[in-house]
Amino acid sequence: MVVFALTLVAAKATIGADILFVERTEARLLEYPTQITQNIMPKMIHSHNDSLSYGVASVEADVSLYNGTLYIGHENAALTSDRTLDSLYIQPLLKILTEVNPQNAFTVNSTSPNGVFDTASGLPLQLLIDVKTDGVEALPFILKAFQPLREAGYLTTYANGTLITSAITVVGTGNSPLEQVKALSPRDYFFDAPLTQLTDPSLNTTWDPSLSPLASTDYGTAVGWNGIGTISDEQKANITKFVGDAHALGITARFWDTPAWPIYARENIWKALLEGGADWLNADDLAAASSF
Ligand SMILES: *[C@@H]1O[C@H](CO)[C@@H](O)[C@H](O)[C@H]1NC(C)=O
Ligand SMILES: *[C@@H]1O[C@H](CO)[C@@H](O)[C@H](O)[C@H]1NC(C)=O
Ligand SMILES: *[C@@H]1O[C@H](CO)[C@@H](O)[C@H](O)[C@H]1NC(C)=O
Ligand SMILES: *[C@@H]1O[C@H](CO)[C@@H](O)[C@H](O)[C@H]1NC(C)=O
Ligand SMILES: *[C@@H]1O[C@H](CO)[C@@H](O)[C@H](O)[C@H]1NC(C)=O
Ligand SMILES: *[C@@H]1O[C@H](CO)[C@@H](O)[C@H](O)[C@H]1NC(C)=O
Repeated sequence: MVVFALTLVAAKATIGADILFVERTEARLLEYPTQITQNIMPKMIHSHNDSLSYGVASVEADVSLYNGTLYIGHENAALTSDRTLDSLYIQPLLKILTEVNPQNAFTVNSTSPNGVFDTASGLPLQLLIDVKTDGVEALPFILKAFQPLREAGYLTTYANGTLITSAITVVGTGNSPLEQVKALSPRDYFFDAPLTQLTDPSLNTTWDPSLSPLASTDYGTAVGWNGIGTISDEQKANITKFVGDAHALGITARFWDTPAWPIYARENIWKALLEGGADWLNADDLAAASSF
């Protein structure tokens, strides 16, 4: 069962040969500790081309609160007592970031920490927290769980009108509670905005990157093309519109649950999304994504 949903970044405009995705077979995040690599492909992908690096790699954690503890797992049957947000994400990330940010005479004047990627240390890791249980109840526990990373200065933070990017940008999705996230000050837990409703006034929300660096939608309802035959003009127009709405606000766009099969259809869909300007591709099948 896939606990980590890996997402990869793509270029805005140049597609095909200009896009060079490299397999990060030595991705440190996925090497340590061993639990974190269970049932996932031991690879991480990111853009090799600095000019394309307008986004970052992204991982997703499914989080459930029970009896005051945050467990990790896609469904209740997968939860076990030793698989917690702290043991699988917070402590490993803290350990990696401590290693890549040595405190010594050479780093004494550094103002921003290195990220988890040693070949692109300025890039934050986007950590999606998909809350599976009640969001209002879970949020205080989640914020508390991030304290070690917060204390060390590793969390992207919006405070005093300024958004300061650090090694990890935490974005709440699933049942993450919008009003409670809006009220955070300072804010180091952001909200995955509804990509198809960024211009919908009934949500009473001014979407911007200080609240939502990312907006997402279910591919099936927003586009629906199965990747076989020709995409319709309406489907194409939806991709362009939703991506355009997000980009006009400085927000990146993600379509989740893109069909994985058959492979040629999946690749046609990825191509259509990239051509439409989408920033993130869902890539549970990393070997395929890396050779795309
Ligand atoms: C990187 O991107 C630039 C601009 O899009 C392009 O000219 C160049 O060929 C790319 N390099 C590689 C290795 O993909
Ligand atoms: C939560 O606590 C109750 C009472 O102590 C216990 O019966 C239950 O098994 C616990 N649930 C989990 C998921 O730990
Ligand atoms: C750090 O800053 C101090 C004071 O400006 C300077 O003397 C020192 O050389 C700097 N160290 C490094 C490694 O840049
Ligand atoms: C925000 O401003 C307050 C008051 O000036 C200050 O105490 C606080 O450290 C600032 N927070 C950040 C994260 O810069
Ligand atoms: C937006 O505000 C209106 C008027 O206060 C309210 O009736 C409505 O429920 C709000 N919508 C949401 C999604 O909170
Ligand atoms: C375009 O998006 C809207 C809003 O999500 C949806 O209702 C409509 O079905 C979509 N159109 C197509 C052709 O997928």
